[in-house]
Amino acid sequence: MPPNRVMNGGREADLEVGLYPRRLRRKRSLTLVQKMSLVSRRYQKLPVPCVVCLSLAVSAILFALVFMYNEAFGTQFANVRTSSRLFSEHNSPYTSLQNLVIVDGHSVYTRSKCDNSEEENSWLLKPCQIHPGQADIFVNHIKAGVETAAGIEDALLLFSGGETTKDAGPRSEAQSYWNLAESKDWFGRRESMRWRALTEEFARDSFENLLFSVCRFRELTGHYPTNITVVSCDLKQRRIMDLHRPALRFPESQFSFVGIQSSPTSKDAAINEESKVLNMFQEDPYGCRGELRKKRIYRDPFLRTPPYPVGCPEMRGLFGYCASEYYIGSLPWTH
Ligand SMILES: *[C@@H]1O[C@H](CO)[C@@H](O)[C@H](O)[C@H]1NC(C)=O
Repeated sequence: MPPNRVMNGGREADLEVGLYPRRLRRKRSLTLVQKMSLVSRRYQKLPVPCVVCLSLAVSAILFALVFMYNEAFGTQFANVRTSSRLFSEHNSPYTSLQNLVIVDGHSVYTRSKCDNSEEENSWLLKPCQIHPGQADIFVNHIKAGVETAAGIEDALLLFSGGETTKDAGPRSEAQSYWNLAESKDWFGRRESMRWRALTEEFARDSFENLLFSVCRFRELTGHYPTNITVVSCDLKQRRIMDLHRPALRFPESQFSFVGIQSSPTSKDAAINEESKVLNMFQEDPYGCRGELRKKRIYRDPFLRTPPYPVGCPEMRGLFGYCASEYYIGSLPWTH
């Protein structure tokens, strides 16, 4: 080999440091197939027991990777399994409860004013009102809910309602109702009621109050309620009994309604509004289209994602359902 050729080669490589590696890399990737065939040829030369061992090791690693992936990004069913396992470990007191009492939220009670004014905070809980005339009428709902549930030995009381009011901040109606009951010392039934009064914090309308609370009951007790009682405005009785209950196909004989009288000052407006909403739900019983859907979006200013139906997999079909006919799939209370 002539010496100047060696020198040339060396110099070229030095000068084109920035160019060569790229070309070399491309060349290397082209030979990947060749390399693999080389490896496989070597693999063939290995004795049979080694091949078996190697295959087993590779499968074990793959299996471990899939397992770890599942643990980290487990599906919703995996979550259900985890929560029911935790549940049995905790030996929850709620498993013994059979009946559900729901108080539909209508407002968020806070200690501060809800209209962005800078007035000093009051120590009293006040509702963030859409109709100021209704004042503290909802305290009667809370009281009726506590008293109704206290009268049913194995009832779980759920205050239901999401973070529906922008001016109230990220506080749910349900939390604020619970707080109000606490501040009123559970209307004399603290001992009996406090431990079995909890919240459902995502509902944006009366249909969701019912649907979500049933799922929440399943989360807490591990089963579905035998009897359901809804405490709400008397004006909503027809809608809840004749539209929301049938939409869930919950048996009429196991369903009751406690209507609380609305305040006389805003009664006409409320009757008007209710008849409009009733018509909308007649066309759209699951509230998932048009105006009712818009209302839900409007009542979710903080873009919360409900956790349901993770904790109530038997209701999954109902949660994904949207049509003007009632759902006909199987439900835990329909057989
Ligand atoms: C459900 O309500 C019915 C009718 O009021 C009653 O007979 C039954 O005992 C209740 N079920 C439970 C589990 O309380």
